[in-house]
Amino acid sequence: MRVPEEFEELSPSEFFWRHKDLAGFTNPMRAIYGTIRELVENSLDAAEVHEIPLKLHLKVTRLEEEQKGEEGRQETLHLHIEDNAGGISREKIPNAFGRVLVSSKYRLRQSRGLFGLGGKMALIYGQSMTHEPFTIRSSVGKRNPIVEYTMMVDIEKNTPRILKRRRLQNPGGWRGTVIDLTTRGDWAHAKQKVVEYLTNTAIAAPYASIFFEDPDGAQYRFEPVTTDMPKPPTETRPHPSGLDVESLKRLATATKTTNLPTFLCRQFQRIGPVTAKKLLQFAGMHPRKDPHKLTREELIQLTNSMNSFTDFKAPEASCLSPVGAKQLEAGMRKQLKPAFVTTLARKPSSYSGFPFIVEAGVAYGGEIQPNTSGKIPIIRFANKIPLLLDEGSDVVRKVVDAVN
Ligand SMILES: Nc1ncnc2c1ncn2[C@@H]1O[C@H](COP(=O)(O)OP(=O)(O)OP(=O)(O)O)[C@@H](O)[C@H]1O
Ligand SMILES: [Mg+2]
Repeated sequence: MRVPEEFEELSPSEFFWRHKDLAGFTNPMRAIYGTIRELVENSLDAAEVHEIPLKLHLKVTRLEEEQKGEEGRQETLHLHIEDNAGGISREKIPNAFGRVLVSSKYRLRQSRGLFGLGGKMALIYGQSMTHEPFTIRSSVGKRNPIVEYTMMVDIEKNTPRILKRRRLQNPGGWRGTVIDLTTRGDWAHAKQKVVEYLTNTAIAAPYASIFFEDPDGAQYRFEPVTTDMPKPPTETRPHPSGLDVESLKRLATATKTTNLPTFLCRQFQRIGPVTAKKLLQFAGMHPRKDPHKLTREELIQLTNSMNSFTDFKAPEASCLSPVGAKQLEAGMRKQLKPAFVTTLARKPSSYSGFPFIVEAGVAYGGEIQPNTSGKIPIIRFANKIPLLLDEGSDVVRKVVDAVN
């Protein structure tokens, strides 16, 4: 007799716990490197969105000496990370750190974070390797108390499990976030990557003060060289070029207006009354239509027309938060100590309705060490995040290699 197949549903935490590699936790070296990266990026985002010059303190301590198991070298490590950034209000802490796919960054505005996953993945990974809870302490400052949660994630249910909650006095108006967690990783192999990551982070965030102490007691200090913060990005409306039918349908269902041109002007950037009229002519649609009553065919027709209409202005770049040519130069001078440096920020361009800005710098001489491979060293960033892996397949490497 045929046994019927069993079907199960996985919670988002369960899914990412089972497929850690999707979040970059592929081996013990990448696990500890990824943990540090995710937490540092969260602090940088929280600093930049509130224009607070970041002070970051990171300490990794060895709890248990190295073991050589199937996974290779592994040791139990304690991680302490403290920032002076925006902090998180107390009622938001449990879900921000205990529920996968919860984020304050699901908006049309540039930030390093995007998915609502990274910080949680670091915590879930540590919890699943050591079965230790983690602690989050935070305050949004001024007259608000400091709240400390000792928590775990209920991975099967994707819910925060609060083991202890404390309220602490905050007479000094301290603001920031402190995370303590126990995890496992291959420090010996991760060490060089972590230091390189922090060094490159200090180039793209020259306003930040970063102090790092590693498990062997070595201390690394990255001092700020500017108080200028990148201009915080503003949230924008979608640009019509990159739209799909589902997005158009959602906007058309939610809108309060019953007038199609008004709907287009309100919901999208780069559409004013004149462009709306031209677009509707181009789409062959009557302007008196009620957006709520668009049929499936009309939604598809309008989406296709929005995607192929060529008279829209390029998307607004105010949702971006570039490093800035001046800041990049300051960062490169500070970390590389070259004899010569020049930087450039291009004008915004766009792809498929999304704006982007290319920023680059060239430095030469001074204390720059030549690559042992004989190739020109390249420091790459995407979204202001240092890229340390897979340089060989990057077009930047190919272009630089082609230069005499
Ligand atoms: N140090 C911090 N200071 C202030 N808020 C923070 C801090 N760390 C995390 N948060 C808040 O917790 C949320 C969840 O963080 P998490 O890293 O899990 O996801 P994310 O940063 O939104 O996206 P990504 O998966 O791309 O990292 C963030 O969106 C942010 O609102
Ligand atoms: Mg994050």
